[in-house]
Amino acid sequence: MNTALIVIESCSGNTRLIAEAVAAGLKDGGTDARVFDVAQAPTALPAGIDLLILGAPTHNRGLPTAATRAQAHRQGGTTASSGGMREWLARTAIPAALPVAVFDTVTSRTWLSGSAAEAIAKALRRGRGRDTAVVGSFLVQGQSGPLADGEETSARAWGRALEDSTSGRSAR
Ligand SMILES: Cc1cc2nc3c(=O)[nH]c(=O)nc-3n(C[C@H](O)[C@H](O)[C@H](O)COP(=O)(O)O)c2cc1C
Repeated sequence: MNTALIVIESCSGNTRLIAEAVAAGLKDGGTDARVFDVAQAPTALPAGIDLLILGAPTHNRGLPTAATRAQAHRQGGTTASSGGMREWLARTAIPAALPVAVFDTVTSRTWLSGSAAEAIAKALRRGRGRDTAVVGSFLVQGQSGPLADGEETSARAWGRALEDSTSGRSAR
């Protein structure tokens, strides 16, 4: 059985809901998938992982910073975290051979909204020369959510398609 590790940052729980749906999609295809909040995620990745998935909310067109996290918290965000995806990426060695997929949550899908997922992909490219081809983006209805209709279903399908490609089957 394949194993996937999903590491996410989430200030108001929406990115976590997407991560749980992606995990369900992976499990539908027979992959063991576990979701970790970035604060609890290992910075030494365990051996035997077949797929790493990284997700974060888009803040100011990119990855959250300490200042935007504080802003989210002031606006009712549930998580007050001293560190997030940006800091985790800086501390964590990701083996070159490990497939990585990235996703984000956004409030709109125009170029103006930016993309935390693209920022993660850029960090992986810049620091480690890695190309991350699989990028997902899921819509929330406002800064604290809820998720837009159908996004959990889309996330589950995205997870299932990832499972298919990781297992070497063609995506359905
Ligand atoms: C400080 C701040 C800046 C944000 N900037 C953007 C942005 O540039 N583009 C966007 O689409 N959404 C933006 N958002 C909305 C977030 O995408 C939304 O809060 C997030 O997807 C919710 O996910 P979470 O519940 O996992 O934190 C911003 C939210 C906050 C709090």
